[in-house]
Amino acid sequence: MAEQDVSVTVRTLLAMKRRGDRITMLTAYDFPTAQLLDQAGIDCLLVGDSLGMVVQGHKTTIPVTLDQMIYHGEMVARAASRAMVSVDLPFPVGQISISHTVESAARVMKETQCHAVKMEGGHQQAQAIAAMVDAGIPTIAHIGLRPQSVHALGGYRVQKDAERLMRDAFAAQDAGCFAVLMECVPAELASEATSKLTVPTIGIGAGPHCDGQVLVTNDLLGWNSGYIPKFVRKVADLKTMATDAVKEYQLQVKSGGFPNQNESF
Ligand code: KIV
Repeated sequence: MAEQDVSVTVRTLLAMKRRGDRITMLTAYDFPTAQLLDQAGIDCLLVGDSLGMVVQGHKTTIPVTLDQMIYHGEMVARAASRAMVSVDLPFPVGQISISHTVESAARVMKETQCHAVKMEGGHQQAQAIAAMVDAGIPTIAHIGLRPQSVHALGGYRVQKDAERLMRDAFAAQDAGCFAVLMECVPAELASEATSKLTVPTIGIGAGPHCDGQVLVTNDLLGWNSGYIPKFVRKVADLKTMATDAVKEYQLQVKSGGFPNQNESF
């Protein structure tokens, strides 16, 4: 069987780190986007709670609920045939109690049929990560800039505390997470963590030396209207293309050019 046809698992990602093969991850929130990314060969799909900002139009990810993550996670998991699908645990899952975290993560796994969950936190969430892993729930730890803590961190800013980053990364690895996602940390720090950890690192705004990279798909494709962070590479301008297409439709209807005979019964 060709490598592209084999489903991506936690073991695949570990093997990719060992071989030095870069891991690709992108966000998806719905069936058609997930299907497109999966068929394009993206290794991992993330149903990020960024959907609160990207899809729902909120200013932060904080309002997103567990039921909403499950709603979107189920659509994405159904679309993916090769990619590994991870679903974010929304605020305040992970911050209340270990049993609440495990119960929430178990609901996500059962009701979406995704392959893994992602949770913000490292050292302070280590016991919760260990409990999820014990329950058979593959977990990614999200450290560095943790958007659910944006108010506590004083804004979306680069996280330069090297001691804290390394403590969070190792605590998460020791607790059993299968990957560490690092957001908005200096490239040199991310590189050091990547070379010292045995589990893969996935970076966003964390420089080129992580084992993999993740971006919000809407940012990558120019399908958004808000602020675009410095670390984003915009490879297309779908918003302009879609606006032009919609204006063309408007023109065609107003002028009586649509529908024509072939488009009518
Ligand atoms: O919620 C999300 O989409 C994320 C990525 C930005 C890493 O956590």
